[in-house]
Amino acid sequence: MSLLRVGVLISGRGSNLQAILDAIARGELAAGVAVVGSNRADAAGLERARRAGVPTVVADRAEFPMRAERQARLLEALDAHDVELLVLAGFDEILGPALLGRFPGRVLNIHPSLLPAFGGGMHAARDALAYGVKVSGCTVHFVTADVDQGPIVLQAAVPVEEADDELALAARILEQEHRLLPHAVQLFAEGRLALEGRRVRILDAAALPAALG
Ligand code: GRF
Repeated sequence: MSLLRVGVLISGRGSNLQAILDAIARGELAAGVAVVGSNRADAAGLERARRAGVPTVVADRAEFPMRAERQARLLEALDAHDVELLVLAGFDEILGPALLGRFPGRVLNIHPSLLPAFGGGMHAARDALAYGVKVSGCTVHFVTADVDQGPIVLQAAVPVEEADDELALAARILEQEHRLLPHAVQLFAEGRLALEGRRVRILDAAALPAALG
C-alpha cells in the first residue's frame, strides 16, 4: 500500500513539522511529507523541510496580499504534489473555502490548549495563565469553517505549575504537541478515525480489515 501523502502548512519555526519528519525517520509514522507550504518567506520551518529533502512552496504576504490568492497558490502546490491529508502546523491564517473545500474531512490542526477552552487566539498559553486554569494542554482537531471548533482527534493535558510564565507553560505544552500530532497523522493514515456527529472515534487497529490495518 502506498504511503499517505501529507502536505504541511507552516508560518514559523516549524517544530511540529520537525516532529512529523522525525517520526517518519524513526519509522513511527507511515506517511510521507509531500510538500511544505508557507505564507511567510522567512518561516524557519522551511529550512527544516529543505534539510529533509521535502519540496517547499512559499506564498508570501508581500507577494500575494490577498488571502485567497495566497491560498490559491498553496492549493496549486498541494495538488501538484497529490496531497491527501493537509496538516496545519503553526499556520497563522484561517483556511478559505477553496482550500477547505478541496480537503473535506482531511485537514488537521494542532492548537496549544484543551479546546474548546482558549480557541480562536494566537496566545493560548498566555490566555490560560491569565484565566487561572490549573490544567491546560493541546488538541489535534479536524479543521472546519468554524475556527478551532472542528471535531477533536486527540488531546493531552499539561498541568499548570506555580512558577509557570507563558514561556514555560508553552514549552511544556509544545513537548506534548510533538508527541500528539504525529500520532494523529498515523491514526489518519491507518484509517482509524471515524466521525460520529462531532465525535471522532478511534477505531481499534485489530478490528480493521487487513487492507487498512
Ligand atoms: C504551536 O504551538 C501550535 O500549537 C500552534 O502554533 C505553534 C507552532 O509551533 N498552532 P511550531 O511552528 O510548530 O514550532
